Amino acid sequence: MQHDPVAIRRIDHVKFFVGNARQSAYFYRNAFGFDVIGYAGLETGVKHEAGYVLRQGKITFVLTSPLRPDHPESRRLVQHGDGVMDIALEVEDVSRAYEAVLSRGAVGVAPPTMLQDEHGVIELATIKAYGDTTHTFINRDRYKGVFAPGYKPLAPGRYSRGSFRSVGLMSIDHIVANVEEGKMDEWVDFYKRVLGFSQLIHFDDRDISTEYSALMSKVVQDGTGRIKFPINEPAKGRRRSQIEEFLEFYGGPGVQHIAMTTKDIIQTVAAMRHNDVSFLRVPRTYYDALPERVGPINEDINELAELGILVDRDDEGYMLQIFTKPVEDRPTLFFEVIERHGSRSFGKGNFKALFEAIEREQALRGTL
Ligand code: FE2
Repeated sequence: MQHDPVAIRRIDHVKFFVGNARQSAYFYRNAFGFDVIGYAGLETGVKHEAGYVLRQGKITFVLTSPLRPDHPESRRLVQHGDGVMDIALEVEDVSRAYEAVLSRGAVGVAPPTMLQDEHGVIELATIKAYGDTTHTFINRDRYKGVFAPGYKPLAPGRYSRGSFRSVGLMSIDHIVANVEEGKMDEWVDFYKRVLGFSQLIHFDDRDISTEYSALMSKVVQDGTGRIKFPINEPAKGRRRSQIEEFLEFYGGPGVQHIAMTTKDIIQTVAAMRHNDVSFLRVPRTYYDALPERVGPINEDINELAELGILVDRDDEGYMLQIFTKPVEDRPTLFFEVIERHGSRSFGKGNFKALFEAIEREQALRGTL
């Protein structure tokens, strides 16, 4: 049997479009512990934009900024602020994948293109996803360079090592989209019909509601189960939900958070805090109730409480997780750090405490 031409090997990279990639690279390096491994810009012969490639474990982020006002994507910065522009997916054959998804109703943004330099060739093609977010199919089997044509390894000594600590993030666990009210099922259907994903789980407003805000969420995953995309939409609550706040400040649907795995969340979060990353906090009472709720775990609860790490358990095991505050002035993009011990779920038992913590932040912003 011939396998699906849209079978995805992995998330190749996540591309952020930002106002000042040079400074964002400094933040993701010093606070989140990424290595800056590649650069594209005027010095490498790229005239219209600058790009920085950041790597940690199997995670690759690319930060891109326009160099001139007439860059075709410049309006993104006014509309969205900094944010995720593209989630690039590695496939075996870019042209076949692109043809297949177009025949299944995807909207093309850029047809298959070969990029070539002395290190080989990569092939790319891009389709629309929610809002202004895109998916690029990429194949780099015949490419040996640092990232892509136009990018060069960063000159040694470009950054001297500072006082920040290494962090130990390993891979992307899931990437969450916020879409408009009533649009969640449309996008779930897109991932099922176009990319061959299946629906893993759903949460409705009975699972996810507090006094003020409610949301609905469905999780789609690829055939291997390695790529998971939860999709949220606002549900009717008494006041403005965190999803509505995101949609307002981002100016439409987009990536809400990226969850990254670690083998030692206590070490990772301690290092990130040392590096000045701010995390959401839950009240101490959360930890008083914890032993009864999740049963025995390997970690010391006092240590978890000290760092604000949350715990949840399901049929398959338990997981530890924590969320940063938004990493920009707009209350939009944030990150999650997650350590899984058997559990493959998303921390449903933490939703209430978490959303109350988010609402306390919303209240400070006057957006509740
Ligand atoms: Fe998450």
